[in-house]
Amino acid sequence: MWCNHSKRGACDDATGCVHVTLVRLIKFPSGSRRICRSRSPKLQDSYKRAMQHLKHCQGLAQVFLIRSQSSRLSKSVIPSLSVWDGHFSCRWRSTGGHGRQKYFNDRLPKFRFALAGLLAGTGAVLAYKLHQDKVQLAATSAQLRVTQTSDLPVYTLEEVTKHRSLDSGVWVTYKGGVYDITEFVAIHPGGDKILLAAGGALEPYWALYAVHQQDHVLEILSEYKIGVLNPESYKKQESANPSDPYSAEPTRHPALQINSLKPFNAEPPASILSDNYITPSVIFFKRNHLPVPRVDPEAYRLEIEGLSGGVVSLSLSELKSRFPKHTITATLQCAGNRRSEMNKVKQVKGLNWGIAAISNATWSGARLRDVLLYYGFGPEVAAKAKHVQFEGLDKDVTGTAYGASIPLNKAVSEEGDVLLAYEMNGEDLPPDHGYPVRVVVPGVVGARNVKWLGKIVVSDEESKSHWQQNDYKGFSPGTDWDTVDFKSAPAIQELPIQSAITHPAEGTSVDRSDREVTVKGYAWSGGGREVVRVDVSVDGGKTWHVAKLRTSDQGQHPAPPPPPGRAWAWKLWEIDVPIPHRAQELEIVCKAVDSGYNMQPDTVAPIWNLRGVLSNAWHRVKVKVSEGFKDQK
Ligand code: MTE
Repeated sequence: MWCNHSKRGACDDATGCVHVTLVRLIKFPSGSRRICRSRSPKLQDSYKRAMQHLKHCQGLAQVFLIRSQSSRLSKSVIPSLSVWDGHFSCRWRSTGGHGRQKYFNDRLPKFRFALAGLLAGTGAVLAYKLHQDKVQLAATSAQLRVTQTSDLPVYTLEEVTKHRSLDSGVWVTYKGGVYDITEFVAIHPGGDKILLAAGGALEPYWALYAVHQQDHVLEILSEYKIGVLNPESYKKQESANPSDPYSAEPTRHPALQINSLKPFNAEPPASILSDNYITPSVIFFKRNHLPVPRVDPEAYRLEIEGLSGGVVSLSLSELKSRFPKHTITATLQCAGNRRSEMNKVKQVKGLNWGIAAISNATWSGARLRDVLLYYGFGPEVAAKAKHVQFEGLDKDVTGTAYGASIPLNKAVSEEGDVLLAYEMNGEDLPPDHGYPVRVVVPGVVGARNVKWLGKIVVSDEESKSHWQQNDYKGFSPGTDWDTVDFKSAPAIQELPIQSAITHPAEGTSVDRSDREVTVKGYAWSGGGREVVRVDVSVDGGKTWHVAKLRTSDQGQHPAPPPPPGRAWAWKLWEIDVPIPHRAQELEIVCKAVDSGYNMQPDTVAPIWNLRGVLSNAWHRVKVKVSEGFKDQK
């Protein structure tokens, strides 16, 4: 439902009546969200951006603007100078923080927030507030500046620690500053999680999510500043604070192109991706949502629930000795591979992956099917269960683990080849790839290949994890962050046909005197569908040539053809194509065809989606044709 106050210009000025809050899947009784329709383009823009950021980070969250009495608003949006602990302070005055808390408590169901979303959402709400403030309260910025530069009270850590609840006030510290965020918590129905930081430092929580290390979030936080820590307290806190959760991350290969450092996400340069049929582990793309957990192999236990014999706890050596070791060659691809091409059509949310969030490895371990059968999977369980859920040992600060699930059929089918892998390319799994055990679900999107596996649950339900429910799903190009309903789309499992050009690189040149251009790349399809052909064009798709496919490294025997429906590994391809006469520039294009005759769409726009997943349009690379000298680039 839209609350339309535009006649009064309500939302643009001081008579507006909005409070922003963040909730998870909150619906009004009518089932509709309330959104303030402002006539101010600036405010609309601010709102939209806050919504987008929030929905992206939170997934489950929705922002809604709650209509309130104008009297409440006029107090809530006007900062006032107040006397506080004997000092003048300019701060946001809003009536009834506790009253609003009651309002929410009375009306809203209790939700369990994923902290990732929540903390990110906190940033979004703060960001929204910043924009709103800028539009509505430019006149008071001078006052705010006064506050920031005036002498502030000095507190000890002990004093801060006393403020851990709505009753006593919620104080936090950040880099030696003391902030009273009581009001923010009160209007924020995720307050129970923010309260984790109450009475102490924000740094350990924000360290997990780089999204908070942004000027606009810090600027908003500064509005809640009430004092500073005394030097001894600050020192004490600094030394007591748990170290950076990312301080024990493994060393990584310098060739990797980093998309985000914390958590670590990186892909190899496209130019070296297809140099090896089996991607060396060090340059295999890395996709982590949280810090890499360090697991002691001696202490490691894998728990299995949902089978007839009750909960099973399995050691690493039991996993290795009790079950035959199987080896498969399988390609993993992140759902966001090639997202950067979607970004060029219209901005999407997510890491800006190039074409190399995909790699191919050999994986060895026990078959999931063997393990489940050994511990009591049978017709009785099969009659009830539909999914197999996996939980990682990587956890956020609330203790929520990374999780995902796959359909039961895939997990137990003899042809599914799902592994509890403990080796990658003939060696122990590297820390970044899930040491000591990860699930390898061949043919299925990377997200379901849970690393650092801690628990398996055979269940009638999908994983409740954020990454199963509110991420890694595809939507129509017409769906935006205002209209998306994550429940309406199935979780991505099998991926569609894919191919990309790894050589030559965009913007380089080819020499006309070579007469031919060598084009190389990879092709892969999900669900075990074998790539049967790759077509290459150098004139933007007017004429086509069929590339040569290979299933091994140069000079090695090609792998025997996979059984039908079990082609888990990519194919590398290569072709020399004549350079057309008079062409000054080549638009090189590739498209692959799989055993189901699925083909890639020719352009990105019709498959654009707000999360930038499933990006598999024809890959296009433009190169110049130079006259008579070799490529200098
Ligand atoms: N498993 C855990 N426990 N934590 C994670 O962050 N990321 C998933 C999946 N498994 C992830 C995880 C995603 S989104 C992908 S694409 C693959 O791991 C990436 O696997 P890789 O890092 O070995 O390439």
